[in-house]
Amino acid sequence: PVSASGARSLSHSVRCLAPTRQPRWQINKTKPYDGQKPGTSGLRKRVKVFQQEHYTENFVQSIFDSIEPKGSTLVIGGDGRFFSPETVQTILKIGSANGVAKFIIGQNAILSTPAASNVIRKYKADGGILLTASHNPGGPNNDFGIKYNVSNGGPAPESVTNKIFEKTQTISSYKTGSFTYGPTKVDIIDSVADYVELLESIFDFPLIKSFLVTHADSFTVLFDGMHGVTGPYGRAIFVDVLGLPPSSVQNAQPLPDFGGGHPDPNLTYAHELVERVESQNIQFGAASDGDGDRNMIYGKGAFVTPSDSVAIIADWAADAIPYFKKGGVKGLARSMPTSAQIDYVAKKKGLECHVVPTGWKFFGNLMDAGRLSICGEESFGTGSDHIREKDGVWAVVAWLNILAYANKQSPNELIGIKELLHKHYAVYGRSFFSRYDYEEVSSTGAQALVDALNVHINIGALLGTKHHSKSTGQSFTVSETYNFDYTDPIDGSVSKNQGQVVRFDDGSRVVFRLSGTGSHGATVRMYVERYVAPEKGAAELNKETQEGLKGLIEVALDISNLKEFLGRDEPTVIT
Ligand code: G6P
Ligand code: ZN
Repeated sequence: PVSASGARSLSHSVRCLAPTRQPRWQINKTKPYDGQKPGTSGLRKRVKVFQQEHYTENFVQSIFDSIEPKGSTLVIGGDGRFFSPETVQTILKIGSANGVAKFIIGQNAILSTPAASNVIRKYKADGGILLTASHNPGGPNNDFGIKYNVSNGGPAPESVTNKIFEKTQTISSYKTGSFTYGPTKVDIIDSVADYVELLESIFDFPLIKSFLVTHADSFTVLFDGMHGVTGPYGRAIFVDVLGLPPSSVQNAQPLPDFGGGHPDPNLTYAHELVERVESQNIQFGAASDGDGDRNMIYGKGAFVTPSDSVAIIADWAADAIPYFKKGGVKGLARSMPTSAQIDYVAKKKGLECHVVPTGWKFFGNLMDAGRLSICGEESFGTGSDHIREKDGVWAVVAWLNILAYANKQSPNELIGIKELLHKHYAVYGRSFFSRYDYEEVSSTGAQALVDALNVHINIGALLGTKHHSKSTGQSFTVSETYNFDYTDPIDGSVSKNQGQVVRFDDGSRVVFRLSGTGSHGATVRMYVERYVAPEKGAAELNKETQEGLKGLIEVALDISNLKEFLGRDEPTVIT
């Protein structure tokens, strides 16, 4: 059945109007909880925290107190993690009492973050509530999250999240529908169908399919859903549409605890994929995170850094991908800690290239203003203006589309991931890039590191100082130190202190930043980047990342005194 919204309904709407029974909602007394401040991507806490009496209800009511729920249509989706079914019921009860006209819900509360963004846009909903903590582990002892998205399909801007936070601090009651969903209409939709349709309208599926069929033996594919939400999307696209064998998709069953894993597609947590790609000579490996907005591309012997990935997509898009062939590439963007690889592409193609703070929401205004088509972040986020979230499966299909196209252009060699990377570096040069994460360190230590860097920045103490690497003999002279501040070119809003940058006179750079997504403790990230020009030749350009960065990393750790401040010798994750 098709509902009035045009959404594909799996069940008839629930309509329990009971005009004779009054009242249709009841008022429940509550008290504010501390700390319900939505972070970069919504409110993320341990499940146990959400399970406290009225905790989830308070936050949900505060969302409704910050928007205009009366008569609205809202989407509910998420990655299906533990505590999602209960929370859907809470949202339905509170939403209906607050006058929501219609909820569009992914079946079993499953809609990947990009799929939810698409559904909000496609059915012109007023917003959506996403139940996810992204790549954080799930289950009764791990994380849950609630995130609000607005009508453009993107994460709520700070004006909205600040309002939600204010409401949580003064809340004294919440309303619930006293019978099954009050007068609210509920459409349960197929989680996957709209999204597959969207990707079919963007990419050259016939070209990808014919490439995969003709290279079935030489070009094998493995997609890892990491037991997050993307398994069913991956199966629909890679197996059902593109005709790959079912074995090309692994960990494709969404599980409430992600099978006990950490559903974050990087070299550390997606090791199962990495090992299979290496041991079975798989040409094309890819993975996505719990809620489906992140991605990792990994070919035999070739890890693609997210910074390189978005640059390569930007480089090929207008030739290879129908969506951009038709609509053109309006502009490019990256987050500040992301490497400048995409900047080189923008420069060559004469495109504007924006550098925004970390957080996908900063791309939204530029997209809405028609100034941005393709963007990405070092944190394994890649996407475009087809929706207002980053999109893991989109990025994977973009790579397949580009490889299929590149191979059609050069039929006499097989161009895989590694070959594509090397061709790219030969033209643009290469920004070697790596990120060191120090997870769950003491907040005091992290603050002391930040404070010490700020002292250096304020008095310019590092400027002109020369630092040697003992192991490589390289030396780096500091040319600039600053705190990254951003003024949004569309609405003029200002975001301060978005990362501390140390630049060197050879163009290399180190950035220090505190993570905004952790659910407890502090996480320090150190981002290192060193540019090598194409003239240096293949031997220099195609080195291992850690080898290319060794000297700079040594210097970065030395300048910042990081090991002493954090009491850690080694990072917990290197990407
Ligand atoms: C989320 C956001 C990304 C952002 C990332 C930063 O995944 O959606 O846009 O890049 O958080 O995380 P961090 O832990 O570095 O603050
Ligand atoms: Zn995510």
